[in-house]
Amino acid sequence: MAQFLVFIAFFCILLVNASYGLIVDENSVSVASTNPTLAEEQEFIQLTGKTGPDEAATCGQLIESRGFEYEAHYVTTEDGYILQNFRIINRYARESGKKLKPILLLHPLFGSCSVWMFNSPGGHIKPWINGHPPEDNSAELAFLLANLGYDVWMINVRGTSYSTNHTHLNPKDPEFWDYSFYEIGIYDVTATVEYIKKETGFETIIIVGYSQGTIQLLIQMSAIPGYDKNYDLVILITPIGFLGDKSGTVGALPIPLLRQLFSLRNGPVPPMSAITAGSLAALCERPLLTPVCISISGGLLGFDPQQMNVSRTYVYASLLDRTSNKNLLHYLQFIETDHLRYFDYGEDKNYELYGSAEPPEFPFYKMNPKKLVFISGLNDQLATPINVQNLRNSLCDRVDTDHVITDPYFNHGDIVIAKDAFPYINDIVVRSIEEKILHDEL
Ligand SMILES: *[C@@H]1O[C@H](CO)[C@@H](O)[C@H](O)[C@H]1NC(C)=O
Ligand SMILES: *[C@@H]1O[C@H](CO)[C@@H](O)[C@H](O)[C@H]1NC(C)=O
Repeated sequence: MAQFLVFIAFFCILLVNASYGLIVDENSVSVASTNPTLAEEQEFIQLTGKTGPDEAATCGQLIESRGFEYEAHYVTTEDGYILQNFRIINRYARESGKKLKPILLLHPLFGSCSVWMFNSPGGHIKPWINGHPPEDNSAELAFLLANLGYDVWMINVRGTSYSTNHTHLNPKDPEFWDYSFYEIGIYDVTATVEYIKKETGFETIIIVGYSQGTIQLLIQMSAIPGYDKNYDLVILITPIGFLGDKSGTVGALPIPLLRQLFSLRNGPVPPMSAITAGSLAALCERPLLTPVCISISGGLLGFDPQQMNVSRTYVYASLLDRTSNKNLLHYLQFIETDHLRYFDYGEDKNYELYGSAEPPEFPFYKMNPKKLVFISGLNDQLATPINVQNLRNSLCDRVDTDHVITDPYFNHGDIVIAKDAFPYINDIVVRSIEEKILHDEL
């Protein structure tokens, strides 16, 4: 019942948005500010009177507030999208003179670089001792890895508030929004990996995906055979190669209604993300309305209430980001076919594009499972145990490391906001990386 109300609320927001048509936030194509949408949202939040630290903060602001420095790197994809990616600079690590291994973090749907940093007010930079990294147990994966001496890069995929520019398409035109996680995997991830290799001189990098980040990697590595030679390790947190298990969140979605809504026209969802996220944040800031706020976010993503810092939900809400309607349509197709396939354009165009009436499945068996690390949860409502098992079964061998989170209540959204994100997730990520590096050095 609660979930039903949540979806009603969410659809109302979508419908209001849809009736406004194709609206990208004012000035959101300017690269002068690192994020015009968040600048607008900060102004909007000022109007409602309340603000807290980290609320609607840009990734640059989050990084600097913890004592690190940052670089914004503009990466142009083969199909013309201009991404604004972030790199964390740790001056202690730089002073040590060590060559820092690059790690690229791929954010989930409706997220951006900030998901790797917004968990708690912690994650501050720590000095190095005699040229060695400090002990750290930050709940924010990006800050933890930066403290431990890794060269941390974070992507912002096309269409997010950071990456709304293109060499020849205007974000105000529908053509700009004609993409799904397929193009993101093939173009955005690949261009960013190549850019990092060139910038750092490393031949191989470590890559970490969470939720949609894992979809992008599964698509990239199976559709571009051999591309995994660029990765030392591919860490898939809540791996999603199958999405048909109706026992989870997807079973409650009114698919036909959503399909109609997302088919209206190509454009951003939500169209006015600054106002939408700002309003949600304002709602979550009011203690009386916190339960409503939690059920909206919990109904969609799934959180373990025990793991949630309730007084911080407004920060998470304020940093929700946007995607394209076509991406959401591809998700609906994914839910219906269970296995991840190319976008379904209908029989005629499918024949033209793929030479078959049905779109082909991505050939997961072509990936090298020995590079893969799975981290999954028993109570995950999207990467459910059944969906993850189907993915295991579709590979040609066992994955290198297959970690199941020991807390039986750990849910999909807890990965980046759980109070215990360090012991349950971040520590596992770090150990997998250290084992790999140690193994390669022997
Ligand atoms: C978008 O990127 C292009 C190419 O780098 C740049 O010249 C232009 O200033 C950017 N657009 C805006 C509106 O800032
Ligand atoms: C919970 O959030 C509040 C508000 O941001 C913060 O002051 C507090 O330190 C947080 N607690 C934890 C355990 O992160």
